[in-house]
Amino acid sequence: MKGIVLAGGKASRLYPATLVCSKQLLNVYDKPMIYYPLSILLECNVREILIICNSLNLALFKNLFKTGEDLGVKFSYIVQKEARGIADAFILGEEFIGKDDVCLVLGDNFIYGNSLKSTLSEAVKNKEGAVVFGFHVENPYAYGIVEFDENGNVRSIEEKPQKPKSNYAVPGLYFYDNDVVNIAKKIKPSARGELEITTVNEEYLKKGRLKVKLFEKDIEWKDMGTHEDLLKASNFVREKQSGGKELIACIEEIAYEKGFINKSTLLKHGENLSKTEYGQHILKFVEGK
Ligand code: DAU
Repeated sequence: MKGIVLAGGKASRLYPATLVCSKQLLNVYDKPMIYYPLSILLECNVREILIICNSLNLALFKNLFKTGEDLGVKFSYIVQKEARGIADAFILGEEFIGKDDVCLVLGDNFIYGNSLKSTLSEAVKNKEGAVVFGFHVENPYAYGIVEFDENGNVRSIEEKPQKPKSNYAVPGLYFYDNDVVNIAKKIKPSARGELEITTVNEEYLKKGRLKVKLFEKDIEWKDMGTHEDLLKASNFVREKQSGGKELIACIEEIAYEKGFINKSTLLKHGENLSKTEYGQHILKFVEGK
């Protein structure tokens, strides 16, 4: 399976913080935002990862992640010249995806919880159609919203509905078979001029090939698209990490646990970052503490 992190867009809701810097490079407590969605792809055992960003930030992303060798993965980069919509990821990524299935994660999504690992491994096993998720929200106007019938089957899926038919938002984590490339190439832009990921999901739904799994109750999902959401996510991470027990989205540690890198490479990462709690956490992990 290939992986895509979509990290372009203008992030105008975060101006002036994002006037000259990518939203996905802003820090969420102690690490760049993109570490959180990237950690999800690593958890899924994905080793070929495409980062899609705008031209202004390409050099910054390349500086941060380079080839991926340090994490035992391979990064590719593509510039999205204009924010044409989330589904554009599959058109830009066609060659990268090749004949594989693909997981797309939005660069501003935060997902955390004990049941996350098992949820991801179930989704990875699915080789047919699409798997997306549902998460109960109080403001259904801001997201893709999925409606279920009385038997729990998906009845409809709508992007930012004015009259939401449910409170279940579809988070920015999507698993597709290879058909997604052709579907993305065929869909038309929405009224707001974007190739909507929800239109892609609707196409799978029409063919009876869309699975929607509700996140377990322990899962926390956040879209970090506004200043308020960004601060909430930072505070959440700070609280979970206080006391040094866990380090959320430590991409180096996940790469080690997955067998992508060996202990000495992990140690080097820890040493390079040793002035921070992030680095010290890695060093303690290497020492088995
Ligand atoms: O966060 C989940 C929601 O994400 C879903 O429930 C919606 O169905 C989906 O449309 C999307 O809604 P948003 O309004 O939050 O999407 P946004 O425009 O903020 O873009 C999400 C990420 O994708 C963000 O990191 C920027 C990036 N992006 C977006 C577009 C439209 C791109 O890189 N290129 C684009 O063309």
